[in-house]
Amino acid sequence: MNPPPASGQRRRSMRRRTAMTTKQQRSKSVLLLLALLLVAVVAEASSGGGGGHGGGVSVDPSYAFPNPRLRDAYVAMQAWKRAVLSDPRNVTGTWHGLDVCAYYGVFCAPAPHDPHLVVVAGVDLNHADLAGHIPEEIGMLTDLAVLHVNSNRFCGLVPRSLDKLGLLHELDLSNNRLVGAFPDVVLRLPSLRYLDLRFNDFEGPVPSELFDRPLDAIFLNSNRLRFQIPDNVGNSPASVLVLANNDFGGCLPASVANMSSTLDEIILMNTGLKSCIPPELGMLTGLTVLDISHNKLMGAIPDELASLEKIEQLDLGHNRLVGEVPEGICHLPHLQNFTYSYNFITGEPPVCMHVKALDDRRNCIPDRPDQRPAEQCQFFNTHHVNCDAFRCKKFVPPSPVVHYDLPPPPYYEVSPEDRYLSPPPPAVHYDLPPPPSYEVSPEDRYLSPPPPTYQAAAPPPPPAYQEAAPPPHYEVSPEDRYLSPPPPAPVMWNIPVYQYSSPPPPAAPWKP
Ligand SMILES: *[C@@H]1O[C@H](CO)[C@@H](O)[C@H](O)[C@H]1NC(C)=O
Ligand SMILES: *[C@@H]1O[C@H](CO)[C@@H](O)[C@H](O)[C@H]1NC(C)=O
Ligand SMILES: *[C@@H]1O[C@H](CO)[C@@H](O)[C@H](O)[C@H]1NC(C)=O
Repeated sequence: MNPPPASGQRRRSMRRRTAMTTKQQRSKSVLLLLALLLVAVVAEASSGGGGGHGGGVSVDPSYAFPNPRLRDAYVAMQAWKRAVLSDPRNVTGTWHGLDVCAYYGVFCAPAPHDPHLVVVAGVDLNHADLAGHIPEEIGMLTDLAVLHVNSNRFCGLVPRSLDKLGLLHELDLSNNRLVGAFPDVVLRLPSLRYLDLRFNDFEGPVPSELFDRPLDAIFLNSNRLRFQIPDNVGNSPASVLVLANNDFGGCLPASVANMSSTLDEIILMNTGLKSCIPPELGMLTGLTVLDISHNKLMGAIPDELASLEKIEQLDLGHNRLVGEVPEGICHLPHLQNFTYSYNFITGEPPVCMHVKALDDRRNCIPDRPDQRPAEQCQFFNTHHVNCDAFRCKKFVPPSPVVHYDLPPPPYYEVSPEDRYLSPPPPAVHYDLPPPPSYEVSPEDRYLSPPPPTYQAAAPPPPPAYQEAAPPPHYEVSPEDRYLSPPPPAPVMWNIPVYQYSSPPPPAAPWKP
């Protein structure tokens, strides 16, 4: 006796399908174009004798490069220039001549192992609005620590040659038109700490190895990724994990509790999660932002969430939660914004009224304004949720002693806006070589992609290895921060009407 799909869901899936069809068509033609380009590049490479080392690019024999690395960088940048099909701001206009360090977006610095060797340490083309693809020759920029190309129109696949970039610390490919499977090459970058793939068209599963990598920040939101968040997610030492707006489904893994010594912000909004909220989340005592809104989470709000001592933003809205709000949550000292609207909550302790920003609309709370009609509330009251039926794995901390003896994550007492706009710099907890000294400022890292308005006269972003100018002060909402820039397609989760005809399924054994 399956109920018919709710009209909103139909609308949503139709919209999604339409968007996918046109996008797929676009992707297809883009892929075709890319294939042609690749064939051309490969042909040139094999005839030019470079064997993938910038085959198509001929170097003026009169050029006396200061060192061979800069010669390679020249070849890489010239290959990239050829791969650019549209450059409305004439960014690549400066990409000529042997002084690669003077090219727009290219930043040079002494090599970490040899202060007398000047190499290309960063390429920052954020908001350059370039169209084309990222050529395989990018692998010739072997000293690159920072590669930022957010908010361009690069299409096609992520070059496999990225695995030559053994020093790459930050990779920001966000807000482009990159396609294909999750770029596995990022799993083979030993120095990578910051991975930002949001707002592209990557599709399919995410390898679970991602969460075994020593990444400090992972942004995968707003792609077409489809997988169940694996149980090893808790192995990740990330402080920021943003997976919003993908299609995951299944359990919210209790193992995220294993990230308690590092995790600062986790955003799982609109990821199709369908389970109860694991009480183990309460172990994330360093967490400041928890957003699990716009999912199909059921059952009660666990009392254990009252242990989230550092929490500031807690969003449980747009789920199917029932029962009373645990009083302890509203006593949390740093809680500023507590959202649980669009659920089936039936009770709210008076202390919750003191939370700075509280959103309790569209629930079943007696004597509160803007609640659901009685018949909707009735329905949920009579449907008990058996959380065990989802068969989600529990998290058992391996050794509580080790776990809680770890130093607490860094905590900065700054204004909320500043805090979110510039989370603490990544702490290095790994037995890996230290990151190169020329990383970008934390502000730039987390602010990227920067606001969409680009001033043509604006100077290029501050060089990665220099003292960055004070960050501009942006007043943005938390969503904008993580989810910006706005996706081209309509925001899929913005479906405010509750679908009464689509109740959660009975508590049947969960099947993958
Ligand atoms: C692009 O910039 C280069 C170097 O700044 C300049 O020589 C060239 O004329 C510019 N091209 C256009 C189309 O503006
Ligand atoms: C917790 O994370 C550590 C790595 O930080 C990992 O070695 C361990 O297996 C994880 N434990 C569980 C139960 O996930
Ligand atoms: C509180 O958070 C919700 C979503 O998490 C957001 O929509 C709202 O604007 C926030 N309110 C304030 C006052 O910051």
